[in-house]
Amino acid sequence: MVEKMVIPFVDLARQFRSIEPELTKAFVDVGRSGGYIMGARLESFERKVAEFIGVRHALGVADGSDALFLVLKALDIGPGDEVITATNSFIASAWVIAAVGATPVLVDVADDFNIDPQLVEAAVTSRTKAIIPVHLTGRAAPMDEINAIALKHDLFVLEDAAQAIGARYRGKRTGALGHAAGFSLHPLKNLGVYGDGGLITTDDDALAAKLLKLRNHGLRNRDECEIWGFNSRLDTMQAAFAEIKLGYLDNWNARCLSIAQTYAAGLADYVQVPVDRAWEECVYHNFVIRTERRDALMAHLLQNGVDTRVHYPIPIHLQDAAKQLGYKLGDFPNAERYAKTMVSLPIYPELSDTEVNYVIEVVKSFF
Ligand SMILES: Cc1ncc(COP(=O)(O)O)c(C=O)c1O
Repeated sequence: MVEKMVIPFVDLARQFRSIEPELTKAFVDVGRSGGYIMGARLESFERKVAEFIGVRHALGVADGSDALFLVLKALDIGPGDEVITATNSFIASAWVIAAVGATPVLVDVADDFNIDPQLVEAAVTSRTKAIIPVHLTGRAAPMDEINAIALKHDLFVLEDAAQAIGARYRGKRTGALGHAAGFSLHPLKNLGVYGDGGLITTDDDALAAKLLKLRNHGLRNRDECEIWGFNSRLDTMQAAFAEIKLGYLDNWNARCLSIAQTYAAGLADYVQVPVDRAWEECVYHNFVIRTERRDALMAHLLQNGVDTRVHYPIPIHLQDAAKQLGYKLGDFPNAERYAKTMVSLPIYPELSDTEVNYVIEVVKSFF
């Protein structure tokens, strides 16, 4: 065994240091401009990120959860309506549905950790208004199948792209695969700012126009309020930071993909590793492996300086908050099995090859 190293699960300060002069300049520029809410720096970021994703509109909002919530609000989805999403996700994929007064309808996932389209179809009722496919771990959900179901039943497709900025599916970026999408700019995400932040993308002009008002108190202009709204804006400062980081995103994502390929090649004989299919480009927000000996492996990794996490140890249908939905243990066997067998290894662009190989060696030494 090689000499012990310490590898944190994330190390955001490493990335900060690598671009510190540019970020500092943006801080000074915005600071000296005197404009800290919306304005030209936000619009510039929105234009660039819309072009990057390949959509007509990108709107900065307060966070990724608000991005999803505001779209549901803009669609007037509410009490009596149902929205389908995956049970293996971050809790926000579901609470945004409950927050507009609608009913979250949860569905099991397939072995790529994304929603199973056959189960989506089976979950559609006369009350269903929308599907929220989650691009979990940075891998696009099966969007062809989901869009076909949506077309057949006249449903809105809202991508939860929080973990997948820059990922591709049949040549198109996530955020351009449904009717609208929500992204998170939380510091841990592939394009993360220095606080909370989020983004909505859509090609729908009318929806974008409504969302512009909804995120800013429902105001039509400075003095006239057209609809009851919210205060959910991406700070000008954060937009300036995000614009700088957008310039690095493809390279950072490519580095994560390369780390994932090294992990997969080194570990495939020992654990279940993720598989990239010909039609997709995963950005590996997380690199999730599976093994029946998960807890012991995590302890062994920690003992050897490698920090890991589980995304997510409790499927949404088994959370206390979801009790009134009436789900029970056994309802979603895949998600429940994965919750006990999966573990996420450290993956971020700044990891060195030496560190990646060390993680592989530690996993191997366990088996
Ligand atoms: C899948 C998923 N959906 C939604 C969110 C919510 O994003 P935010 O934390 O920016 O509100 C996150 C991240 O936290 C997420 O991972």
